[in-house]
Amino acid sequence: MFFSVRYHSEMTTTAILGQGYVGLPLAEALCEVGDTVLGFDVNEALVARLNSGSSHVDDISDASLAKMLAAGYRATSVPSDLRLADVVVICVPTPLHPSGAPDLSYVENASTLVAENMKPGALVILESTTYPGTTKNLLRPMLEEGGRELDADFMLAFSPERIDPGNAKFNIRNTPKIVGGESGKSGEAAADFYRRFVSEIHVTRGTKEAEAAKLLENTYRHVNIALVNELAMFCHDLGIDIWEVIRAASSKPYGFAPFYPGPGVGGHCIPVDPAYLSYEVKKRLGVDFRFIETAMDINNGMPRYVVSRIQRILNRDEKPLRGSKVLLLGMAYKPNIADLRESPSLEILEILMHEGADVSYHDPLIQTLRIGEQVVAGVADASTAAAESDVVVLLQAHAAYDIDALIGQSKFFFDTRGVTRSDNVERL
Ligand SMILES: NC(=O)c1ccc[n+]([C@@H]2O[C@H](COP(=O)([O-])OP(=O)(O)OC[C@H]3O[C@@H](n4cnc5c(N)ncnc54)[C@H](O)[C@@H]3O)[C@@H](O)[C@H]2O)c1
Repeated sequence: MFFSVRYHSEMTTTAILGQGYVGLPLAEALCEVGDTVLGFDVNEALVARLNSGSSHVDDISDASLAKMLAAGYRATSVPSDLRLADVVVICVPTPLHPSGAPDLSYVENASTLVAENMKPGALVILESTTYPGTTKNLLRPMLEEGGRELDADFMLAFSPERIDPGNAKFNIRNTPKIVGGESGKSGEAAADFYRRFVSEIHVTRGTKEAEAAKLLENTYRHVNIALVNELAMFCHDLGIDIWEVIRAASSKPYGFAPFYPGPGVGGHCIPVDPAYLSYEVKKRLGVDFRFIETAMDINNGMPRYVVSRIQRILNRDEKPLRGSKVLLLGMAYKPNIADLRESPSLEILEILMHEGADVSYHDPLIQTLRIGEQVVAGVADASTAAAESDVVVLLQAHAAYDIDALIGQSKFFFDTRGVTRSDNVERL
């Protein structure tokens, strides 16, 4: 069946596989344009939670979820519900195996569910970040099983998600969206679908270009962060203030984009996505993607570097790391959210525990966290803990922190984020 559609709200039922940081905000945007939205997730506890009105995603409040439910949003774990959908969007995780290789098992499982429960003529869009060729070589053959044909029986596109959790300025609606179709018709249909709620659509030649564009964006960040991290280490030894250097270079109105050093890179994307690109280059072409390998080396070494700096601070006070009281402030990988995924702060905490420091942490948004099998509870009051510590380390500058007051209460204050200016603070 040929399926040519201009998506009109009153006719579109959209199913989103994966109701996480990407899938749930997408569901909200689609509810707002009048789609009937099915939030499909294999996590049944999460489905029950969402249907009861409780959101687990920072950017979607319970009040927003209540509006979605009132507009007809429904979370489900029932695969046959996918048969109702005119459009199916896949937003499932794409992590790495412990070996460092891409783990596409979630995409494969989701694609199997779609292939087995697809309405004739449905538009299928993959949003999960992945290496170029995934849509063409993995998803498409699965959807073609049983003799189905692209454009006649289904349409297929890739459109990378660019959501930036906690970003008050850019959201799903005002961030331009890249769309690449497996055919011209698929690309057009996917562009029409997003045009209803995204301000600007950029259509690529095909799916591979759209997949590679997302990896370029995140590799660009990864490599530039590594550049300033390496420079920060050299600047410290040369007695140069790296933060002042970046501020000065940023005064150039063209040809320079500032990136900032820190205790390492975290989150679902920056530490993971470049590995998808280097893996594919190595597998297909047999060569190393040298920039990515070097950037990984540097960024992955930052937690150990931060610990070495803590050691040097304590040294000046003739104290060993073992037994010294160290307070870590802010454990999430970015400010003002509770997301701990791949957060370098976890590695710093783990190293300090392993070295025998009397380490504690505070994060206004994270009451407990897990290091291996151990559940670690945060301290309730940052000020009291700061006053009792030998060194206080700012790992994440959450807006809730009164940093000047905390500096005043601390014996030594080590700022790994460059948010302080005063002389009585040690900066990365
Ligand atoms: N979080 C971000 O800021 C961000 C930004 C851009 C792109 N991405 C990419 O988007 C994708 C999703 O990331 P996320 O942060 O939303 O992940 P997430 O872990 O927050 O959510 C993924 C959800 O998918 C569910 N799931 C797993 N297998 C499933 C299946 N077979 N069918 C249905 N649901 C399934 C999980 O239970 C989970 O609830 C990843 O590829 C990620 O790299 C994430």
